Amino acid sequence: MEPAAVTPAAAPRPPVVETRDLSVRFGAATALHQVSIAVEDAPDRGEFIALVGPSGCGKSTLLNCIAGFQQPTSGSVLVDGRPVAGPGRDRGFIFQQYSSLPHLDVLGNVRFGMDLDGHLAPGDRRDRALALIEQVGLADHVRKFPHQLSGGQQQRVAIARSLALEPRILLMDEPFSALDEPTRLDMQQLVVELWHRIKPTVFCISHSVSEAVYLSERVWIFTHAPGQIAYDIRDCLPPTLGVPPLAAQEQPAFKEAVRAVTEAFRTVTAGGRPPRRP
Ligand SMILES: Nc1ncnc2c1ncn2[C@@H]1O[C@H](COP(=O)(O)OP(=O)(O)OP(=O)(O)O)[C@@H](O)[C@H]1O
Ligand SMILES: [Mg+2]
Repeated sequence: MEPAAVTPAAAPRPPVVETRDLSVRFGAATALHQVSIAVEDAPDRGEFIALVGPSGCGKSTLLNCIAGFQQPTSGSVLVDGRPVAGPGRDRGFIFQQYSSLPHLDVLGNVRFGMDLDGHLAPGDRRDRALALIEQVGLADHVRKFPHQLSGGQQQRVAIARSLALEPRILLMDEPFSALDEPTRLDMQQLVVELWHRIKPTVFCISHSVSEAVYLSERVWIFTHAPGQIAYDIRDCLPPTLGVPPLAAQEQPAFKEAVRAVTEAFRTVTAGGRPPRRP
């Protein structure tokens, strides 16, 4: 009899981002205390996670550790199973303040990382940059310099520049908080569209519950410092692709999600222990 064909099982993929007992101290202050997270990717598809929590609880510190800007005091941070030693092209970062390079025009800004990286031929870099500039709605502003752009337009440049390297992970630290309300709503819709198209794993810090509910598939609510994740909310968040934020906010499922997340956030800010995971 022929022996049965035996196919070795594929090795399990490590989490895309993992922290193990991650602690960060700044002198006497503890920003993070033994935080352990593991975010799995579905094949070719990352999650969109919003991080919400009281000021000073360590949200930016966690993102900075994943980005490789901040070293742990103890514990470890792994990306794709490998310890993070510093920043890398697999992780894009979008800051709260616009971070355009003032001496480069829009095209130069979006090309910048690709030019440093040198993986693509110059013509391909230009094509990819122009396609992204189009996607973020700046096709008419390719030759403008940052000082000739509004805050929202500069943030679009920053998003295009981060996406140009096709990062597996996108880290956003309050990316819209410096924008006026109409621009912020436009940017929220743009980011949801881009995420559905490109599907990186996103960690996005927000101070707004309705922004977190609109953007994400999963909301983490942190405790007061030193931060721990008190709630991991994923089931009640409605899909919002193609729905403008103001229209989404009118939907009963959206209102219910905002209520549930606000309730959990209130429990945390009141210093209480989470009674249950909503
Ligand atoms: N480079 C630093 N040096 C000293 N202390 C720091 C440094 N960075 C952060 N901290 C402290 O660590 C704690 C966590 O800071 P972090 O910036 O991570 O908070 P956050 O949750 O992002 O707050 P916010 O919502 O206000 O942005 C705070 O007490 C902060 O003062
Ligand atoms: Mg912060």
